This record gives sequence, C-alpha cells and structure tokens, in this order.
Amino acid sequence: FGAQTLAGKRVLVTAGGTRERLDPVRFLTNDSSGKMGYAVAAAAQQAGATVTLITAPTKLTAPAGVTVVPIQSTTDLAQAVLERFPANDALVMAAAVADFQPVAVADQKIKKTPANDEFILKLKKTPDILKAVAKIKRADQVTVGFAAETQNVLANGEKKLQSKHLDMLVANDVSRADIGFNGDENQVTFILPNGVTDQTPKTSKKVIARVLVDRVAQLFK
Ligand code: C5P
Repeated sequence: FGAQTLAGKRVLVTAGGTRERLDPVRFLTNDSSGKMGYAVAAAAQQAGATVTLITAPTKLTAPAGVTVVPIQSTTDLAQAVLERFPANDALVMAAAVADFQPVAVADQKIKKTPANDEFILKLKKTPDILKAVAKIKRADQVTVGFAAETQNVLANGEKKLQSKHLDMLVANDVSRADIGFNGDENQVTFILPNGVTDQTPKTSKKVIARVLVDRVAQLFK
C-alpha cells in the first residue's frame, strides 16, 4: 500500500456525532467517537488527496495538513457540507448524524419547577444531508455513506445506498459490543450499487479506512 491513488483529488470527510442543543447547557448526542472518520481523513491524505474534515466535537486530534471545519449540530453540518461539496471530488459521510433535533432551543437554561414533574421534549427530523447532496451531485463526484445498523444490516444498507444515490455504502453492525462505536476496531461490509458486497475481517479502523480509500480511488476509474 502507500500508492498515491488519490493524488490531485479533493476529499471531504465528515466525522463525529452531531450535538443538538436543548438549551445553553444541554444537548442530545450519540456514542460516535469520530475515530472512523478521522482514520478516513488520514488515509485519504496519505493517498495524496487534499482533505477537508468537517467534524463534530471529538477527543481526537486531526491529522496534520488536513483542513478542519468544526461544527456542532446537524444544521451546521448540512450547511458546511453543502457549501464545500461542489469544490470536492469525493464526500465520505462518516459522521453519526442525529435523526431528530429539538423543535425549539431554549435561550435560557430549562428549569425544574414544582409544576413540571414531567418534561416533554418535542423533536423533529433533521435534514437528510446525503439526500440534499444527491440533488447537486455531478457525475464526476463520488459519495460514500455509512450505515450503523442493529438488524438486517445488508438489506437496510442497500436501501440507504439507493435512496441516497451513493456510490458506496459502508455498513456496520453496531449491536456487536466488540466493534463499531468508540472502539478502535470495526468490521464493515462495503455495498456497491451493482449489488456487490464485500465484508472486511474484524480489524483496526485505520486498516478499514485504507481499504475504503482504495475503493474510493477505484470508483474514479
Ligand atoms: O439514515 P441513516 O442515518 O442511517 O444514514 C446514514 C448515513 O446518512 C451516514 O452516512 C450519515 O452520515 C448520513 N446522514 C445524513 N443526514 C442525516 C442522517 C444521516 O446525511 N440527517
């Protein structure tokens, strides 16, 4: 490995779990560590690409030389992706995007009162970023999505690939405690539009990122 398979390409990577604010001191998020997306950014850079990493808050340090765009919410992420996608050749959407966001964000801290033994939080669907990307995608651009599933991993992955007009979907089973969210290892199945699927062995996210980048390079051919 180590060939400059993405030399001259511009690659946009998203990583981490989005934060949906309820009030100035609280937010909803998920278990994503950002490790998979950061590993993809590093691997793409090693393959010669110019990399932009749009990242939700994580504990990780971005690879040197990568342009970092920090975001918090799904709305921020949507804006950053849609703004930068046209100038990139590939988008790898590894961020764990919230499915729902609060309908309203309180500008002051939400208080307990004697009257509110129950507190009802109203959520609405977040914008589907990859669906919006599909609408502006050119034939020369490659898009890759991730699917974290707990059941029917392949069937759900194939549905996502179609509905989001992706060139590749990376499906992983997050119901398994030994892989996925937070860990350093993963096992994924690459799903392609022609119905081809390819399951990796259980290995480090760094190795999976290199295989993914190699596959992205193939998709340009
Ligand atoms: O539908 P689901 O969230 O499982 O799809 C996963 C893929 O779609 C991931 O690549 C994720 O980054 C992306 N996504 C998105 N916009 C959303 C939710 C997920 O682009 N609102």
